[in-house]
Amino acid sequence: MRHSLPLALLLLGVAACGGPTAQVGNLESGSAELSTPVAAAGPEADPAAAESEPEGHAHDPEGEPAAAHEHHGHGGEHGAEPGAEGATAESSTHHGHQHNFDDPELWASRWDTPERDEWQRPAAVVAAMGVPFMGTVVDLGTGTGYFVPHLSDAVGPSGRVVALDVEPAMVEWVRQRADREGLSNVEAREVPLDDPGLEAATYDRVLCVNTWHHIEGREAYAARIAAALTDRGAFYVVEYTREAEPGPPAEMRLDPDQVIADLEAGGLSAELVAIDLPRQYVIVGRR
Ligand SMILES: C[S@@+](CC[C@H](N)C(=O)[O-])C[C@H]1O[C@@H](n2cnc3c(N)ncnc32)[C@H](O)[C@@H]1O
Repeated sequence: MRHSLPLALLLLGVAACGGPTAQVGNLESGSAELSTPVAAAGPEADPAAAESEPEGHAHDPEGEPAAAHEHHGHGGEHGAEPGAEGATAESSTHHGHQHNFDDPELWASRWDTPERDEWQRPAAVVAAMGVPFMGTVVDLGTGTGYFVPHLSDAVGPSGRVVALDVEPAMVEWVRQRADREGLSNVEAREVPLDDPGLEAATYDRVLCVNTWHHIEGREAYAARIAAALTDRGAFYVVEYTREAEPGPPAEMRLDPDQVIADLEAGGLSAELVAIDLPRQYVIVGRR
């Protein structure tokens, strides 16, 4: 466990690729959500501190420290929140990807929380995806693997979940999480920024939560996803709405039309999914 992180970083991180609890709206009654394991959450996690962030500053996207968005593939244009950079300025990178996802324990304390379950509604998301039992699915930009247990359960022991991330520490975290939680159908893989490295015509579903806006060259990337889908496969992108509080800085948020255009440019037929999430929208792209 790291205790050397600057206090500023801890204060800047908003819970969950989305932040603290705030509003929980319109939950479907009776949805049988799995409870996301919280054992991974670091005891130093302080959701209250995260919730006290000043508006428009500290809360960066998805509860990432602002600097987590500074140096990803879109260049350094994001996450220029004053005061935020100092905490992780050393994370500037030569290859364009943010290095602020290299502390899974910290992110687990932000992302893998019961509070997030309330607004993220992972079981409802997975249900909306129509994940086939015994199917083969991908969690693109898996992070700490928040969705992994839900996907693992949906495909069952004979199915397969491939969890992808560019950050080696996240990949290792998910490997250990899968071992710890007995998710024998989960495989975690490290991937390069611009390529999911997926086998052609193999995957029934690909899920990408709070990650699509991190991806550079999204049209070309969408084409790679399209090639990896089976004939009846589908790609689901979950992103924050412009109105969601908290959420990514405005300049990072993608409108649904933009995501639809990205997916269609990649050869998919895309549309908005009818699902009631208080902070996010979902786009599906089908072959
Ligand atoms: C905001 S987190 C979301 C994690 C997870 N999907 C969730 O909802 O909790 C974004 C994750 O995407 C990863 N990521 C960023 N760019 C990526 C890329 N081009 N390919 C794969 N993973 C990427 C980051 O390392 C990080 O773990």
